[in-house]
Amino acid sequence: MFGKKVSWFAVALLVILSMVLAACGGAAPTPAPETPTEQPVEDMPADKQQVEVFSWWTGGGEAAGLDAMIKVFGEKYPDIEFVNAAVAGGAGTNARAVLATRLQAGDAPDSWQGHAGQELIGTYVAAGQLEPLNFLYEQNGWLDVMPETLIPLISDNGNIYSVPVNIHRANVLWYNPAVLEANDLEVPTTLDDFFAAMDTLQAAGMDAPLALGEQWTTMHLFETILLSSLGADSYNQLWNGEKSWGDADVTKALEDFVKVMGYTNSDAASLSWQDASQMVVEGDAAFNIMGDWAEGFFKELGKAPMTEFGWAPVPGTAGVFQFLSDSFVLPTGAPNRDAAIAWLTVAGSKEGQDAFNPVKGSIPARSDGDKALYDEYLQSAMEDWAKDTVVGSLTHGVVANDSWKSEIDTALGLFLLDYNVDTFQSALVSACEVSGPCK
Ligand code: GAL
Repeated sequence: MFGKKVSWFAVALLVILSMVLAACGGAAPTPAPETPTEQPVEDMPADKQQVEVFSWWTGGGEAAGLDAMIKVFGEKYPDIEFVNAAVAGGAGTNARAVLATRLQAGDAPDSWQGHAGQELIGTYVAAGQLEPLNFLYEQNGWLDVMPETLIPLISDNGNIYSVPVNIHRANVLWYNPAVLEANDLEVPTTLDDFFAAMDTLQAAGMDAPLALGEQWTTMHLFETILLSSLGADSYNQLWNGEKSWGDADVTKALEDFVKVMGYTNSDAASLSWQDASQMVVEGDAAFNIMGDWAEGFFKELGKAPMTEFGWAPVPGTAGVFQFLSDSFVLPTGAPNRDAAIAWLTVAGSKEGQDAFNPVKGSIPARSDGDKALYDEYLQSAMEDWAKDTVVGSLTHGVVANDSWKSEIDTALGLFLLDYNVDTFQSALVSACEVSGPCK
């Protein structure tokens, strides 16, 4: 398994340490012990080294970001073959199902893309599927550069379970500046302005001024309208159990959401997020509410910021940054553990993050990214991340574990058939009771 320079004694020691670590996975609050990561991965024979990394970044601005980080990895670890196990489908809807099947079959990839927050802690950590990574944080000094707000979202009992590569913003309104100008419209800043602008556009013959895609993009839209209608404090309280989903202002938020849906395209279910975002830059719609990975896509399409696409916080959410963070993990029993650690080391490095994020349309999780490498939109996102009130995303794993999210998703799917607010609200109340913190 390892190179000739390593004695059998060292190999035996490493194996024992690996077993001890694997056995600890997810339980003990003690900092992880010194680990075999000091084993230089370069010492492994070339034909035996590979790392299988699982994600859903296959195209439309996403693969390009991953490729940029793979390039850095290839330069640092030329002897490790990168096996790209990405499964297509925005927000990981397909990939996460494939991953679940693989995990159940004991066929874990060496590392996978997950989301900081409840997806990680309430799902994979709760199931004992991950190794703590405290040792990597110590070795690389990451605690000094990763945001303090993020560490609790990737930790459990003092153990840190992932390496965040970025910060994405969910509550972004993308708009077509030429369409707004032609209709004499300002960028809306409140929900009422938003409705009024879309009324004007519909009256001018644009039936669906707000472009929408498949169901996860509808959940994404839903969470941003919930935030807009309720405000950051009440939005947070819904997720920590301090506020009831049955409250009157939640009813109002659901009514706002119904209204918003009235401005969307009827073929949404058959469109990917890229299809929907592209409608805006092509002038077929005026608006799209999507995370800032859309910016990576617009750049890949060669579109120019502020002339061919513009951005603003979702109306009613200025000063609030609804965030998510892609982060990579080390499964217990990773088939190529050392190579996986090499990948994680690149994912957490300044060089890796500064290669990945400017292309992906996200800002580095690290606070020491080189701002000069980031474009106008991303620089504005960096400023907002530093000063805004930060809340978490539902669709992208921050605020709810997988069971809770999936119950909300089922309720949302039914709601889209009849728009019955009462039934939807009761289902949301019950989802929080069954799988969330509401008792
Ligand atoms: C999110 C993920 C982003 C982006 C998006 C669309 O869940 O965090 O990095 O990939 O899905 O696929």
